[in-house]
Amino acid sequence: MTSQIKARFGLRLLATTALIGAFALTTAAHAQTTNAPPPAPTVRTDVPADRPWMDTSLSAEARAELILKEMTLAEKLQLTFGYFSTDAKWSITPIKNYVFPKEGLPYSAGFVPGIERLGIPNQWQTDAGVGVATQTVPEAARTADLPRGRTALPSGINTAATWNPEVAEAGGAMIGNEAFLSGFNVQLAGGMNLMREPRNGRNFEYGGEDPLLAGIITGHEIKGIQSNHVISTLKHYAFNDQETNRNQMDHQIEDKAARESDLLGFQIAYETGNPGSVMCSYNRVNGHYACENDWLLNQVLKTDWGFKGYVMSDWGATHSTTQAANAGLDQQSGWAFDRSPYFHGALREAVNNGYVSQERANDMAKRILWAMFEVGLFDTPVKGDQATTIDFEKNGKVSQTDSEEGMVLLKNTPGLLPLSKTAKSILIVGAHADVGVLSGGGSSQVYPKGGSPVADEYGKGFPGPKTWYPSSPMKGIQARTTAAVTYVDGKDVKAAAAAAKKADVVIVFGEQWTGEGFDVPDLNLPNNQDALISAVAKANKKTVVVLETGGPVVMPWLSKVGAVIEAWYPGSNGGEAIARVLTGEVNPSGHLPATFPASLDQLPRPVLEGDPKLDSDSHPMSNYNIEGAAVGYKWFDKKGYKPLFPFGHGLSYTTFALSDLTAAAEGKGVKASFSVKNTGGVAGKEVAQIYVSGTGWEAPKRLGAFQKVEVAPGESQSVSVTVDPRLLATYDSASKTWNIAAGDYKVMLATSADDIVQTVTVHLDAQTLDVRGK
Ligand code: BGC
Repeated sequence: MTSQIKARFGLRLLATTALIGAFALTTAAHAQTTNAPPPAPTVRTDVPADRPWMDTSLSAEARAELILKEMTLAEKLQLTFGYFSTDAKWSITPIKNYVFPKEGLPYSAGFVPGIERLGIPNQWQTDAGVGVATQTVPEAARTADLPRGRTALPSGINTAATWNPEVAEAGGAMIGNEAFLSGFNVQLAGGMNLMREPRNGRNFEYGGEDPLLAGIITGHEIKGIQSNHVISTLKHYAFNDQETNRNQMDHQIEDKAARESDLLGFQIAYETGNPGSVMCSYNRVNGHYACENDWLLNQVLKTDWGFKGYVMSDWGATHSTTQAANAGLDQQSGWAFDRSPYFHGALREAVNNGYVSQERANDMAKRILWAMFEVGLFDTPVKGDQATTIDFEKNGKVSQTDSEEGMVLLKNTPGLLPLSKTAKSILIVGAHADVGVLSGGGSSQVYPKGGSPVADEYGKGFPGPKTWYPSSPMKGIQARTTAAVTYVDGKDVKAAAAAAKKADVVIVFGEQWTGEGFDVPDLNLPNNQDALISAVAKANKKTVVVLETGGPVVMPWLSKVGAVIEAWYPGSNGGEAIARVLTGEVNPSGHLPATFPASLDQLPRPVLEGDPKLDSDSHPMSNYNIEGAAVGYKWFDKKGYKPLFPFGHGLSYTTFALSDLTAAAEGKGVKASFSVKNTGGVAGKEVAQIYVSGTGWEAPKRLGAFQKVEVAPGESQSVSVTVDPRLLATYDSASKTWNIAAGDYKVMLATSADDIVQTVTVHLDAQTLDVRGK
């Protein structure tokens, strides 16, 4: 970042020009029945004569075309340039002299000025995937309403662990509504970088390691957000799968492997959620920055998939004018994070001198306008900050449901969980479980209403402060037991072990804070917590471990403890959710959306690529062709490695029997049917997984379909799912087709990647599908 660059604002208020417009009269389609008069044509009396694009009966495409005709070049390009909406003095990376546009909402991610004379709304942009975030502000700026306290969903990886698209969509709808009521109409949510690197500091924001699961869950979150007329942005496109050297790293990956892994995930999320925007990432891919990468933007996203919306850059991810505009970037975001205001005066210059065509300039503006029409920014404009009308109580419950469905019971010794009603004393240890639950750090940080109950333990600014939500697991447990519940912070390991000896049951909380901008050095719990858990478990066999982590961790103490629950970052009501699962008020039903490795040696890159100390002019490379499309469990399968916990694993307080698997070719894919029986004593939800296996694939098997099913004790349910044909095919780069080879395919019914219950074989004929899998 060059600090000398002065912020320049392109807020040009243009004189209102009289427009000659016409009503667009549309004739409603009608059935030609005899004698019945045809219905009168729909005349939209509310469409102003000079603004025909306000006719909501027209397609977003047609409306964008109409308004574009009235716009000057300067106006079109104005839409392509966005500002950071936080002043230099408060910003995460101090930008000298930067003052955000006065129309922007303070302490938010961004602002793009609209055009008043044409009624083009401003774009008020907020982070991010777990709710309405606030940019880091120093302690001094914290007042009752700054930073804005909002409802936080559990982390994205928790939502993926629900394996429940409905929960994902309800969460998206809730945070989109809070964004709308807070005055925002663009939410920078929809993060789904595949987990190639379990140490990635932002795994908590994403959807795990599988393209189908991550794509479906993220797509539904986007759908939920956009149901509030708030544009959602699928990000970070693409291969921004680690934070170390994220601005410099050049990830190498072949087209075929890319299309069958991370890109397939983005493709599925795009098809499911129809996001108005896609955010290109910081890193380079195959030698080119993602935000000026013709292959990623023009070819794959816009041509092959048919994306009609706009590509916005991540904050500071634009590196050129002509190159970026011609490669497919439509909007430079978050000025003044970049070295230069590339899409400001320079873009106009490039259009005027022909380096960027007029046609492309139109396309850039049209894509932004298309998204604004499609999602409803013109028709249902934001009304400014209406936060006082937010129903925090109701929204907290939406977050809680997400947490409860995503919490994964990894291990349980019969009789230990749910907590026994006869326990007389319960000791709670560590991770501030007396007062709150942890959240992930960085630009996605949602601040709790009323502030964090724990003072910042990080103390170095961004991606801090290390923030806790004031939902106490201890209070939640106390409210549900007659046992005496006590707490020790665990800093004194000996004292904790001594207290553990005297308690009937011990619940140790382990935490791993992760955040944007850094990766964790290894998968161990930091700050001596592994030793603490071991010591406590040695003192008391009835030890339950509750983890609040960003992603996978190793568990050197696993064999010594009685039960383990992965609670991720459980969001605003996380303490309640944890207490309800521990006490059996809620039967856990989360399943892992990522493999938990037994050790770092099992990873494709045992040593993390890059070096945080590298200067900004170095461009280290990382080779994603090592694993190619064999990400996560696919790599473990291929190598024959046994993980600590496999992808898809998750226990329940009841038991299920999966059976009666049949599979047959249907349409272009495969339909699988089976039944799920609850063979235990309490109602519960099982995540039934269908894996498929063919020859010549990147790995022995792929997740082909899944279904979460709720079953009452003793009851059975029949389930049918279809496997997307792309998951039965291999991608051919030369012809841009997905090809299913003629032959026998295994279809497997499973409860995790390592627990195949039943297998059948289905014969498929050879098939060629287009690049969209049709
Ligand atoms: C992050 C994005 C975020 C943007 C705006 C960047 O640092 O990578 O995810 O949306 O900032 O705050």
